[in-house]
Amino acid sequence: MSKTDALPVQDHEVTTETFLEDVYDGFDRDPRWLPSKYLYDEVGSKLFDLICQLDEYYPTRTETKILDQFGTQIAQCIGANALLAELGSGSSTKTRLVLDRLETPAGYVPIDISKEHLIQSAKALQDAYPDTEVLPVCADYMAEFVLPKPSRQPSHAVVLFPGSTIGNLEPDEAVSLLERMARVTGTAGGLLLGVDLQKSPEILQRAYDDSEGVTAAFSLNYLVRMNRELGANFDIGLWTHQAHYNEEIGRIEIGLVSEDDQFVHVGDRTFKFAAGELVRTEHAYKYTLGSFAALAARAGWKVQQVWQDEQRRFSVQYLEVD
Ligand code: AVJ
Repeated sequence: MSKTDALPVQDHEVTTETFLEDVYDGFDRDPRWLPSKYLYDEVGSKLFDLICQLDEYYPTRTETKILDQFGTQIAQCIGANALLAELGSGSSTKTRLVLDRLETPAGYVPIDISKEHLIQSAKALQDAYPDTEVLPVCADYMAEFVLPKPSRQPSHAVVLFPGSTIGNLEPDEAVSLLERMARVTGTAGGLLLGVDLQKSPEILQRAYDDSEGVTAAFSLNYLVRMNRELGANFDIGLWTHQAHYNEEIGRIEIGLVSEDDQFVHVGDRTFKFAAGELVRTEHAYKYTLGSFAALAARAGWKVQQVWQDEQRRFSVQYLEVD
């Protein structure tokens, strides 16, 4: 047995009861919505990895390029002996670009809601970085969590939040998450964030409604998951994926449209959906550098450095507690 077979995991995996309650709660609202975190079951996580490889989905590619190109500067901002924690670590692909350049990190804490995916990536990472202690936490980072203590004392903690996942949160939620991160890291802490930027609606809409239908499959998998885990009976063929850029608000509105009047059982309840009704699954907010700095400031963070690609589609930002 290699040492990574026994990688200890802090486990707060979500229960089926919580999932069901969240679905009931979302379906009792007007308009209806489903929390985006449940998109990432095993199949969903794999589909999301495929999305990241699409030409039309520019964020991953662009962020990766920025991290690669400015990696040395970014590592300098983070500093030596840091404990890194990553929110929604997924496959930790981008993390490697940071870890590769970092001076003696005290540890790496990948935090993800998808347990199997988390364990697999954590093992792979521990094998690739035998000198960095990998301490996985299976949790919803929107709930309270504590950072595990590495065996070597870190000089400070830095939270990584790549992928512009902050854009999935409503602005007020984003502020409370950023406030909570300030409490997690303390005054010496840092935050390395990926923030996607406002741009032409055409580019944005293609990124969230690709020609191969991978994003559609990713959205529809939500229904598949509810059928499997909540005993629901969604007819997948009666739903379509929709992504619309609301230019006024600066956000992509993603959801599933009911193609007919229909009744669906979920758990022990029945819901009626009207033809054309949209059930929202995700919002993806797009910021300007100014609007994001203002949001961060509300949570007590100051933007120290911003790195961008040549076309200024995406930004990677380093923030410190103000
Ligand atoms: C993982 C939340 C950053 O909003 O761009 C991609 C999720 N959904 N395509 C995004 C997503 C559909 C993605 N985040």
